[in-house]
Amino acid sequence: MSDLFVELTAPNGRKYTQPRGLFINNEFVKSKSGETITSINPSDETEIASVYAAGPEDVDIAVAAARKAFKDPSWRDMDTNARADLLWKFAELIEQHRETLATIETWDNGKPYSVSYNDDLSEVINCIKYYAGWANKIHGQVIDTSPAKLAYTILEPLGVVGQIIPWNFPLAMAAWKLGPALCTGNTVVLKAAEQTPLSILYLGTLVKEAGFPPGVVNLINGEGRKAGAALASHLDVDKVAFTGSTATGKEIMKLAAVNMKNVTLETGGKSPLLMFEDADLDQAVKWSHVGIMYNQGQVCTATSRILVHESVYDKFVSSFKDYVSKASVVGDPFADETFQGPQVTKTQYERILSYIESGKSEGAELIAGGKPYKDVNGKGFFIAPTIFTNVKDNMKIYREEVFGPFVVISSFKTEEEAVERANDTTYGLGAAVFTQDITRGHRVARRIEAGMVWINSSNDSDVRVPFGGVKQSGIGRELGEAGLEAYTNRKAIHVNLGNRL
Ligand code: NAI
Ligand code: MG
Repeated sequence: MSDLFVELTAPNGRKYTQPRGLFINNEFVKSKSGETITSINPSDETEIASVYAAGPEDVDIAVAAARKAFKDPSWRDMDTNARADLLWKFAELIEQHRETLATIETWDNGKPYSVSYNDDLSEVINCIKYYAGWANKIHGQVIDTSPAKLAYTILEPLGVVGQIIPWNFPLAMAAWKLGPALCTGNTVVLKAAEQTPLSILYLGTLVKEAGFPPGVVNLINGEGRKAGAALASHLDVDKVAFTGSTATGKEIMKLAAVNMKNVTLETGGKSPLLMFEDADLDQAVKWSHVGIMYNQGQVCTATSRILVHESVYDKFVSSFKDYVSKASVVGDPFADETFQGPQVTKTQYERILSYIESGKSEGAELIAGGKPYKDVNGKGFFIAPTIFTNVKDNMKIYREEVFGPFVVISSFKTEEEAVERANDTTYGLGAAVFTQDITRGHRVARRIEAGMVWINSSNDSDVRVPFGGVKQSGIGRELGEAGLEAYTNRKAIHVNLGNRL
């Protein structure tokens, strides 16, 4: 076995071959510098594997491969039915390797295996199939002007796209980006998050097996400040699509300005959940729990600020606390009953603990959690599900994204006040509204400054529906038909049919 692959046995006993190289031109290669990054199991802090990390030189090579592939007739002029088949085949291979991919995802990220297998992998497969379906349905328009002119548009690919993804949903974020970019005919250099590269590299083997021409999909691992920055600032990259923190999103926008790259940014949030007095309490409690505690609270659209009408506040708080203590089973992510695994890294774990300290020192009331959870094996980055009540709007824990199993609850008196306070944030990603009054539900949904509003649910996203934010939560949309716009130019072609000078 070469240095580029390693045979691993996961904690659930599954054996598989883990690629360690950068996937460029359909081959795994070492990084030029020989630098590596070691991936850690967040459940027990042991090392899983070290994988090669790209530097600027490797990014140059990957971009050149993508450029060559973009110009090659085998990809550029591929019949769109064949392109659809290729994406469909890719989705089927992912389905065949579902157990292995879910195992790697859980091992490297810490999310429960049942979630990786059922949710993340379903989303990945559905997303690639959904965009396979679009591949042969992408077309422009004929625009009537006068009989002396034929004017029409075509939707053409942007070219070489750089994609930078985070660690909270590695495979799903890769699918959200690869699906629309490939079905529209672009070529890709995708950089995994350095905290969770393993599943993305494994995907490389399936890209090759599916039969994508070399260079169409390149998958690299590497640090944000090195490989990510090199990709975002590369002069031969036409677009950069990013999911991650707002601070890094702003940095990427600046780097992308160097050659006026097209950008899609999906960044942070502090999404509100508004619970009105007429809401179905049981439903509101369950969705509020999923809305913040799912995926260890590491969800950009997590409804992390719960605002409850004062007349039902006490009832909601006690039911919610009760429900969380039963439903948020913390434990070994490979155990069937586990709802919450460890946070992804020590950095994230410490960051959440510092927000817990901040909440306490600012005088919010801690009614659950507020400390590390040490009952799994004494190790790992586990945090007890944390609830703060009586939180004031000026407190740091009310204003900043925590990204953990950590929620703040506050009460309101009127609809007007609820909407105003929901919008009192620099973010605008998601929002949830609980009410039985359909008029109020739609009225409030319109007034909330967010890219997505859920009425009587939370984080009920779907690959067929546009996803993205307003304000400092991002630019552009992913998923759905809207996701195609992020990867195409609308070119206008004017044909003179008789206009004489
Ligand atoms: P990050 O935004 O720095 O990292 C996300 C991706 O960007 C990674 O692939 C990283 O390598 C890359 N990156 C970092 N710096 C870069 C640069 N200068 N140029 C190009 N690429 C760069 O997020 P990080 O540090 O891992 O997490 C910090 C916080 O960000 C979290 O606590 C959370 O609040 C937020 N976050 C939000 C996510 C979302 O889904 N919206 C996902 C991950 C983090
Ligand atoms: Mg890891």
